[in-house]
Amino acid sequence: MDKLRIAVIGTGGMGSFHVNSVQNIDEVQLCAVCDIRPEKAKPHGEKYSIPVYDNHKELLGKEKLDFVMIATPHPTHMRIAVDAMKKGVHVLSEKPIASNPVEGDKMVAAAEKYGRTLGLMFQQRTEAPRKKVHELIQSGILGKLYRVNMISTWYRSQAYYDSGTWRGTWAGEGGGVLLNQAPHDLDQLVWLAGKPVEVRGVVETNLHDMEVEDSASAMIRFENGATGYFHTSTVEQPVIYRIELCGDKGKIIFDGRNIKLCTLADPISDYTFATEDSFPQIPMEEQEVKVDDAPEGHAVVTREFARAILENRQPVALGAEGIAPLELAAAIIYSSYKAKTIKLPLSRRAYTNFLKEKSKTSKYDPNVVEQGSVGTVKFR
Ligand SMILES: NC(=O)c1ccc[n+]([C@@H]2O[C@H](COP(=O)([O-])OP(=O)(O)OC[C@H]3O[C@@H](n4cnc5c(N)ncnc54)[C@H](O)[C@@H]3O)[C@@H](O)[C@H]2O)c1
Repeated sequence: MDKLRIAVIGTGGMGSFHVNSVQNIDEVQLCAVCDIRPEKAKPHGEKYSIPVYDNHKELLGKEKLDFVMIATPHPTHMRIAVDAMKKGVHVLSEKPIASNPVEGDKMVAAAEKYGRTLGLMFQQRTEAPRKKVHELIQSGILGKLYRVNMISTWYRSQAYYDSGTWRGTWAGEGGGVLLNQAPHDLDQLVWLAGKPVEVRGVVETNLHDMEVEDSASAMIRFENGATGYFHTSTVEQPVIYRIELCGDKGKIIFDGRNIKLCTLADPISDYTFATEDSFPQIPMEEQEVKVDDAPEGHAVVTREFARAILENRQPVALGAEGIAPLELAAAIIYSSYKAKTIKLPLSRRAYTNFLKEKSKTSKYDPNVVEQGSVGTVKFR
């Protein structure tokens, strides 16, 4: 089999992980690495005897590549992705797709224009229990959704935020926990509950010394009529993950691994009007839904992306699917700062102006090559 020729752009914490993990993927061959700080890429170049670049344009000009993996800070994803697709190179970008929905739109438009596949590293989508919950919802087992709640917390120390000058800043990240950790949660929320249409958010910097939020809460209305509550933060220990999906025919409670499914003997919408009992308990069945273990994680997303190109099929997550979770993150932030409910789609112009205003006083200067990074990325 001819292997797809790939390069990793951005070899900090996440990119270094990709550099090593793609070595076990039969469909790809790592041909080059690139980082604006050459000292971050050089050890990989030496280890795998491949060229090292400090500029993505030079990489794209000199190497014949099938796809690039982008693992740079989010505000840089758009420029690199568009340049790559213009050169005929497919792109697998880290989440979030970008730091501002308008940049995500440009990436999706470029994929369309240049006929390239733009995929996203939403590795949670490869996890068997999550796929099962998605399948259950799609099967209609819960009927009409009434309520969707998600609480997902990710603890981070001050050292984490201090480990890269871009972290926790408006100009370097465009948001805090909502842009860095929660994109996975927001993707899952949209994947399971559907498109959000209205948001009222409250974001706060509760604990950390940083410009952007370390905690966020939101009331969300979905297109299908369901309402929901979402909470995320990097301030709490032990961390928790819990999603409740409550429908007319039952309920799913999921902690990221274990699925509790409750199915009602009769839909609430029928039973409520049929019973003469004022305080009834609808007969129900409760079960733990079991799923078989299967390969999961970043390498599965990368391998599936390669197969999507080779076999002309869908990757785990398309770039276009990254817009809704990013827009939701942006709307939560914007709603909080404007103290009002935001209807989606979020105005691109208003949000860009908001980000520009916030970035004016940001301590991060994108023109100065940043110092430091987290080293090895750890996953929850
Ligand atoms: N999928 C996941 O689970 C996951 C986990 C962690 C991070 N991420 C994402 O990966 C991206 C990077 O995060 P990180 O924690 O690895 O950051 P990091 O700071 O550790 O690494 C980023 C690297 O990109 C380099 N860089 C910056 N601008 C560049 C440019 N224009 N061209 C080439 N290199 C450039 C930096 O020098 C640095 O080495 C972020 O978008 C983040 O959200 C995803």
